[in-house]
Amino acid sequence: MADVGNPLRSAQDRRLPRIPEPCALVIFGVTGDLSRKKLIPAVYDLANRGLLPPGFVVLGFARRDWGDGDFESLAYEAAKKGARTPWREDVWQRLASQFQFVPGSFDDDAAFDHLAATLDDLRERNGIAGNAAFYFSIPPAAFPLVLNQLNRTGMADNAKSGGWRRVVVEKPFGNDLKTAKALNQLVDEVFTPEDVFRIDHYLGKETVQNILALRFANSLFEPVWNSKYVDSVQITMAEDVGIGTRAAFYDAAGAARDVLQNHLLQLLALVGMEEPTSFDPNEIRAEKLKVLKAISIPDDIATGTVRGQYLQGWVAGERAVGYLEEKGVPDDSTTETYVAVRLGIQNRRWAGVPFFVRVGKRMPRRVTEIAIMFKRAPHLPFDPADVEMLGNNQLVIRVQPDEGVVLKFGSKVPGTTMEVRDIAMDFQYGEAFTESSPEAYERLVLDVLVGDRTLFPDAAEVEQSWRVIDPLETGWAGTKPERYRAGEWGPRASDEMLAREGRAWRRA
Ligand code: BG6
Repeated sequence: MADVGNPLRSAQDRRLPRIPEPCALVIFGVTGDLSRKKLIPAVYDLANRGLLPPGFVVLGFARRDWGDGDFESLAYEAAKKGARTPWREDVWQRLASQFQFVPGSFDDDAAFDHLAATLDDLRERNGIAGNAAFYFSIPPAAFPLVLNQLNRTGMADNAKSGGWRRVVVEKPFGNDLKTAKALNQLVDEVFTPEDVFRIDHYLGKETVQNILALRFANSLFEPVWNSKYVDSVQITMAEDVGIGTRAAFYDAAGAARDVLQNHLLQLLALVGMEEPTSFDPNEIRAEKLKVLKAISIPDDIATGTVRGQYLQGWVAGERAVGYLEEKGVPDDSTTETYVAVRLGIQNRRWAGVPFFVRVGKRMPRRVTEIAIMFKRAPHLPFDPADVEMLGNNQLVIRVQPDEGVVLKFGSKVPGTTMEVRDIAMDFQYGEAFTESSPEAYERLVLDVLVGDRTLFPDAAEVEQSWRVIDPLETGWAGTKPERYRAGEWGPRASDEMLAREGRAWRRA
């Protein structure tokens, strides 16, 4: 999707692999979960696909009294476990020979001076010409400390470094609108705004990018993509997993801050936005921002939202403990692991169309999908008994797993009567293409290194998203979540919310 609107690049150029200039990737929090599960494997996959520049180097910074050797073995395990491309020892050996570990804590001036000196040294030694991206895979509380260190040492300064300096910030980006604004201000004081990459890994998913291709590369869908034909939109992000070992983070955040504020609202923006004038990153962002600004929340939070928390149960044949029994969760926690909310988009295209968004952990299975539920045909010239099995036409974008698009519509049942029943036309990525999609992080890390910001939300988008979440959080304060059993599709109240208006959740 990147650069599609750049008239200076020919169509042929745009299909060539994008190889970054020689550079360093500095990972703060390199021993953490995200780094091991996603970042290191992504770097290996990029190397394996031949997409990393000569002289590319990874500098791992973490508070451990380690040496390069320990770092290498952690990285080896992580890469081998998480790699999506075949394992090639020679590729790994070449990559790992350029890994360095810089031990230190975030308040340790000497460690940051050491990091700056290491980057200086690599300028000549590896020919990286001062180019470096700093990846914040660290708790948000540590962001200001690290930003100040990068500022103090001049490491964030493009002019001083003689190359480019970029920063990659992982979510959660703030905890509410106020903290997000403060953080945005701080990051923008230290780095040039064009060098700030806020990661929302959902935007790196192939199927998510396909929303724009589906809508704007075809003539079929856009004419019906509005309130005249669409009854409602359902966006579901269900996970079968629980909170794993992330109680400290998750219990303070909850499902709304964890994924609704970012991934789900980004999906909603892509579904709801107008056609951008080009695929220039700023044009796409401008259109998404308009949608985010137009989102309305229910007048009555109590009836227009449902918060849930899982009890013990069974998921995929395995016993799952309840949220309150998870290690590190306080006995009396009221944090939600499920949210359903009825949102709207206040503009002409979407007036009156509800956007039902639901997210949950410990649901029966992992599925993320966007379902456009169309209105029923205005008139059915059939015997009512013959169309009993006919539902709303649906266009379902399956984000994961089984990536693809399904179109559901009515069709005549073979036989002598005129019975009409729903059938599904199914496009599956795995069957239609021989190319495999890169993992979201692989795509996004490469985008950072080549400086393509198309898939990264900007400060204004993040702030608008908090504008939606803040009043929900205020409305929920002091309330208790509904309960649902692990392995169920959320609390009953969520079904009731839709049933009250004659609608039902799609069986995802
Ligand atoms: C993360 C959330 O952003 O996304 C996690 O913090 C969640 O709670 C994860 O499990 C889901 O990502 P994916 O790519 O597996 O759908």
